[in-house]
Amino acid sequence: MSLPIVDTFGRKHTYLRISLTDKCNLRCTYCMPKEDMQFMPSKWLMQADEIKALAEIFVGMGVDKIRLTGGEPLIRKDVGQIVSDLGKLPTSLTLTTNAVFIDQFIGNLRDAGVNSLNVSLDTLREDRFIAVTKRDHFTKTLHNIRLLLAEGFVVKINMVVMKGINEDEVNDFVRMTLEQPNLHVRFIEFMPFKGNQWDMSKIVSYNDLLSEINNEFDFQQLTGELQDTAHRFQVTGGAGTFGIIGTVTHPFCSGCNRIRLTADGKLKNCLFDTSEVDLLTPLRAGQDVRTLIYAHFHKKHFAHGGHADFTEKHAKSDYEQNRNMIAIGG
Ligand code: 5AD
Ligand code: SF4
Repeated sequence: MSLPIVDTFGRKHTYLRISLTDKCNLRCTYCMPKEDMQFMPSKWLMQADEIKALAEIFVGMGVDKIRLTGGEPLIRKDVGQIVSDLGKLPTSLTLTTNAVFIDQFIGNLRDAGVNSLNVSLDTLREDRFIAVTKRDHFTKTLHNIRLLLAEGFVVKINMVVMKGINEDEVNDFVRMTLEQPNLHVRFIEFMPFKGNQWDMSKIVSYNDLLSEINNEFDFQQLTGELQDTAHRFQVTGGAGTFGIIGTVTHPFCSGCNRIRLTADGKLKNCLFDTSEVDLLTPLRAGQDVRTLIYAHFHKKHFAHGGHADFTEKHAKSDYEQNRNMIAIGG
């Protein structure tokens, strides 16, 4: 067992998010640029055995939770193998998916001990789904969410709330949690990334979300942990819960325990930090990558990768320097 990954603010990093690919079968506007998306050549990507080797190193350094992300993790041909390999580690394993292919992986996920998944869904209306994702997979997505619930998985739905796009559906999403103990909805404030046409004016804030929900429902706040990104709530008498991830107006950096590995094997110590450390090349050269990991987390900024407060005037241009969200991993 190696020493844990602790930064200069005393935060212990135990949650590893591994992006398996920067490709996706959808084209969500908030995640991908409109045009000129250059995907990584496949030889740049970590191979299944390299993902396993890096995950084992991180587990030796105290990681106890792993999430697979993308792009869309389930479009990788060897994802079944990766899920089985990582399922054998002494950590919890989960993934973030758009659910379009989930029906093909139910047995694989269950065998690997996955019991909870995050599913991206921003609207309950087919025409809007097509407008946001640029693809016609609405029926399949809803069908697969129902399938996951019927198969006993916990489903956390991620809804990125954007003004003029889907803000009028917030209470429809809350309503879905009333009857389903395994269904949790998380409303996410729209975040700035390269090429996603972010603007502060497009955000529906934490406070606005709560007052909109309050128009229709009585609810209580649930207690949480410091590292939680979402503040969680439950409608009185409801079965599931809803949460708000207020990255922009209610940052949660003080409890951050997250480590990110991009699909090309670069270590990021924050979603918004542009500095990256290549772990894949040294791993391929047989070097010990642990010193690189400790050093990179020793440099971790307290908040937002050291970037501007989102409310500052230059925030938009500052966050344009980062990768596209799809190339970081959600
Ligand atoms: N703002 C907020 N959330 C985002 N996601 C992707 N891009 C953004 C953004 N710009 C979230 C989606 C998805 C996950 C992969 O990341 O909710 O579920
Ligand atoms: Fe794909 Fe998810 Fe990004 Fe949408 S948010 S484009 S589903 S990776």
